[in-house]
Amino acid sequence: MQRSPYLWGIAAALTLGCIAGLSAGAAENNVIRPGEPWPDNHGVHINAHGGGVLYHAGTYYWFGEHKTAGPSGNLANVGVGVYASTDLIHWRDEGIALPVSDDPGSDLTRGCILERPKVIFNAATGKFVMWFHLEPKGGGYRGARSGVAIADQPTGPFRFLASIRPNAGAWPRNAPPDQQRPLSPAESALVASLDLKGGPVPGFPVDLIFRRDFAGGQMARDMNLFVDDDGQAYQIYASEDNGTLQISRLSADYLRPAGDYARILPGGFNEAPALFKHGGKYWLITSGCTGWAPNPARLAVADSIWGPWTTLGNPWNGPGAQTATSYDSQSTFVLPIAGAPDAFIFMADRWRPDDAQDGRYVWVPVRFQLDGVPFLEWKQTWDPTAIHAPLPPINHSP
Ligand code: GAL
Repeated sequence: MQRSPYLWGIAAALTLGCIAGLSAGAAENNVIRPGEPWPDNHGVHINAHGGGVLYHAGTYYWFGEHKTAGPSGNLANVGVGVYASTDLIHWRDEGIALPVSDDPGSDLTRGCILERPKVIFNAATGKFVMWFHLEPKGGGYRGARSGVAIADQPTGPFRFLASIRPNAGAWPRNAPPDQQRPLSPAESALVASLDLKGGPVPGFPVDLIFRRDFAGGQMARDMNLFVDDDGQAYQIYASEDNGTLQISRLSADYLRPAGDYARILPGGFNEAPALFKHGGKYWLITSGCTGWAPNPARLAVADSIWGPWTTLGNPWNGPGAQTATSYDSQSTFVLPIAGAPDAFIFMADRWRPDDAQDGRYVWVPVRFQLDGVPFLEWKQTWDPTAIHAPLPPINHSP
């Protein structure tokens, strides 16, 4: 059939319209949209909650909890997902890096709780090492364990190595000598009488829980990993019934605690720790302990990773109604941008506990005040390629 000039006109208009539409769409897609659905290369919302990002050989790898639909989607029904990107906007689904196990005897069995997975690369062994918060199936959050897995490639497959409570049989390096002893029977009875639910309670026995757990290992829930400039890696975790964070040096191969750890902000009830280093100082962003419900973020600083740590309040700058919930988010990671020493992305989760896989990601650039103190500001959209030339430091408060 021969086309009439009229039809050709329509076809040309449609084609042009399409091209115009495409380029407009592409431009719109070259931004990060905190809190919005974030499609992967298949157009499916990225499924990597409580995540962290590893930069390796020119590519960013985003690891996170692969959640499923509905409230039971917060259980580990699938495993740890991984996505790859070179521009931090467009992410390719690389599948499940660490699947849950079909063995009912494994701590990693389907239906366990596996949260906040983080991966680091060990240059000496050439291995990728994953740590995560692990709760064996059916035990709620009482297990408070850490899982460790290893892989030859960043996208896995990761092999599950161990489920542990860190630092069994070791005293914290900053515990005074008179606290370096197991609980007395009276102290044990006191601790056993309390209903410790992972949040602040009146009369919380700040200096007793780590002593209770000396023999069996320290509780470890929300966690993160941090590799210092000297290649030394650390695990930081909410311990002691969430009352106190602990930071623990890892062995040279990153596969186990070295038995050298410190208590951070005792009795502060911090979780969701995200640690980074800038201007020669260690910066720590955490949340309070309110489960899936958001609360004001918290910032702390230290000259040494072992502390002492000083609290500096909420790093979010903005209207009180939004900063009170950290823009409906909870910290998960601070990502140093490769080749840009002053550029970091703050990553947080906007949890959707009733439909877990619909949880959103709140990523914003970390900014710095003139005195070097970091702060966070909401952005509707932003272009992470511009982060290589970060905005200059300012003072946001007079
Ligand atoms: C939060 C924690 C999450 C998850 C949740 C369960 O406090 O940060 O990772 O454990 O509690 O209620």
